[in-house]
Amino acid sequence: MKRIAVLTSGGDAPGMNAAIRAAVRYAIADGMSVCGIQRGYSGLLQNEFVEMNMRSVSDIVQRGGTVLRTARSREFMTDEGLATAVNNLSSHGIEGLIVIGGDGSFRGAKNLSECGIPTIGIPGTIDNDLGYTDYTLGFDTACNTVLDAINKLRDTMSSHDRICIIEVMGRNCGDLALYAGIGGGAELILVPEIKMGIEEIVGELRSYRDKGKYSSIIVLSEGAGKAPELREQIITRLGASVRATVLGHLQRGGSPSCRDRMLGADFGVKAVKLLKQNIGNRVVGVHDGKIFDMDIMEGVAVKKVFDYDLYNMANVINNSTVNS
Ligand code: F6P
Repeated sequence: MKRIAVLTSGGDAPGMNAAIRAAVRYAIADGMSVCGIQRGYSGLLQNEFVEMNMRSVSDIVQRGGTVLRTARSREFMTDEGLATAVNNLSSHGIEGLIVIGGDGSFRGAKNLSECGIPTIGIPGTIDNDLGYTDYTLGFDTACNTVLDAINKLRDTMSSHDRICIIEVMGRNCGDLALYAGIGGGAELILVPEIKMGIEEIVGELRSYRDKGKYSSIIVLSEGAGKAPELREQIITRLGASVRATVLGHLQRGGSPSCRDRMLGADFGVKAVKLLKQNIGNRVVGVHDGKIFDMDIMEGVAVKKVFDYDLYNMANVINNSTVNS
C-alpha cells in the first residue's frame, strides 16, 4: 500500500491528535503518502482532502480536540453516500483509510472495507464505552479533568458543609463517573449500570449526616440522571444545602494526558502497520497493556461489561462512616 488517508469522526477526544501525528509520521517514514480528510465522513463526501507531511502534524501532540475537525454524517450511512465516499477515495488514489472515532464511526469503516477500501478503526471517545478494548483514547484525560473539578468543588463544599452533585458525561457507560469518583473519593457514585432510587440515595446521605458528616460529593453519570433534578429531590427530602454542577463539554477538551498520548501513538502506528500489509476491516485496541487488532464487527459486537468489583470497592473505601 502506497497511499492512505486518516479522518476523525463523532465526538472529539483528547489524544486524537497524537494518533493522527503518529499515523502520518510512521506512514511517511515507511514510504507511504498520507491525506488528511477534514470533518469526518462529511468531509469525505465533500472532498475535503489535504495532503499531509511530517510538518503538518508538528505542534499538535499536546493539543486536545482534532486538527482534522470532526462531524457526524447521516448522508454517509446511505447507499448513495457510501458510493460517493468510495469514489472520492479512489479519485485521490487512497488505498487504505484510518478512522478514529466510536462505534458509529466503526460501522462506517466496516462499510468502506466491504466496498474494497481497507479501513482500520482507532477507538477515540471519552466514554470508554467500547467493550472490546480496555481503554479508548481520551478517557484518561477526561477522568483527570473530572478529578480536577472534584478536587476544587470538594474545597468549597466541605468549607460550607454542603453536598455537591457533579454530573459527568459517558452516555450509557458509567466508567467516567466510576474512575473519577474513585480517584476523587466521591461518597456516592451513580452510574446507569446500577439503579439506585432516590430513597436509597437520601438514606445514604442521612446516615452520613447521622454520623457527623455533612459534606459529600456525588458523582452522577449523565446516563443515570440529571444533576439539577437530583438536587431538588435531595433538598426536598433532606433539607440539606445542595449544589449541582454539570461539567458538560469541559470534559471533552484539554491537553491529553501522557497515557492518552502514548495510546494515540501506539494505535496510530498499529493502524499503519496493518494497512501496510493490506489488512483492513480491523479495529485496534488495548488489553492488559498490549495493543491488538480484531475484526471491526466482532469488536463492535463485544458487550461492554461494567466493573462491579471496582464499584463495590469504591463503596467501601470512599465511605468514611462505615463502622465509625
Ligand atoms: O460520546 C462523547 C460525548 O461527549 C458523550 O459523553 C456525550 O453524551 C455526547 O458526546 C455529547 O454530544 P454532543 O457533543 O453532540 O453534545
